[in-house]
Amino acid sequence: MSAILLKDVSTTYQGEKKPAIHDINLTVETGEFLCVVGPNGAGKTTLLETICGCLKPVKGEVKVLGFNMASDGVKVRRKIGYTPQDFMVKPDEPYKALDVVLMGRFGKIGLLRGVSREDVEKALKVMEMLEIRGLAGKPVGKLSGGQQQKVMIARALAKEPEILLLDEPLSNLDYDSRTKISELLGEICRRQRITTLVVAHNPEHLLQLCQRIIVVSEGKIIADISGGELEREEAVRALIPGLKVGLR
Ligand SMILES: Nc1ncnc2c1ncn2[C@@H]1O[C@H](COP(=O)(O)OP(=O)(O)O)[C@@H](O)[C@H]1O
Ligand SMILES: [Mg+2]
Repeated sequence: MSAILLKDVSTTYQGEKKPAIHDINLTVETGEFLCVVGPNGAGKTTLLETICGCLKPVKGEVKVLGFNMASDGVKVRRKIGYTPQDFMVKPDEPYKALDVVLMGRFGKIGLLRGVSREDVEKALKVMEMLEIRGLAGKPVGKLSGGQQQKVMIARALAKEPEILLLDEPLSNLDYDSRTKISELLGEICRRQRITTLVVAHNPEHLLQLCQRIIVVSEGKIIADISGGELEREEAVRALIPGLKVGLR
């Protein structure tokens, strides 16, 4: 059974005539770490939201962990960690960083049981790994964009997901954090065999980690590249001129 399977999938936004992604066929095996690249407006976010069931395709079939998203989306979403691309937290948002990370545990604990000491320990451990444990008690709206991005990654990981979908998770981080967080993500996903799709506008930090790159352009997958690091880099560079990719 493949972790993710898309068969002839097209997704059209309400009120639009043209699908944002069309006739997508994609198979991702358990434990694969994929990088999704492509220019702005290519359909990368739409692809991720279609996989996690946030958007319903107008055509085709989406299966995640063997379940059909059209009928079993709610059940499967508990096993998917997702960090959206542009989330905005209001400066007066009362939630503390730890509260937000703990939200990742809600699918597991249910709303009625409440948060246990183990949940808090798990959340803090993930925050420690991402070097944001010291921010646990800070209101999330008062954190910087990069710190908030780490909180959202921590929330997705605290869920202990089988599938991880990250939409430009490194975009607000400084160079050192990008390096650290991408290496950490690679390590965690490999160790826990989490099937991972990372959208990266600028994938230079991720090329070493992913085994496979899919290139999206104008709503279609125009390339699916595996192979060695240099091969991948050359292929991506050829397809998207001007894209900043490269070895550190
Ligand atoms: N909510 C929306 N309503 C209508 N069109 C949208 C919406 N969101 C995105 N689009 C369009 O869908 C296409 C793909 O967008 P998106 O998936 O966000 O691209 P990417 O993430 O690769 O930058 C673009 O043409 C964009 O304008
Ligand atoms: Mg996007």
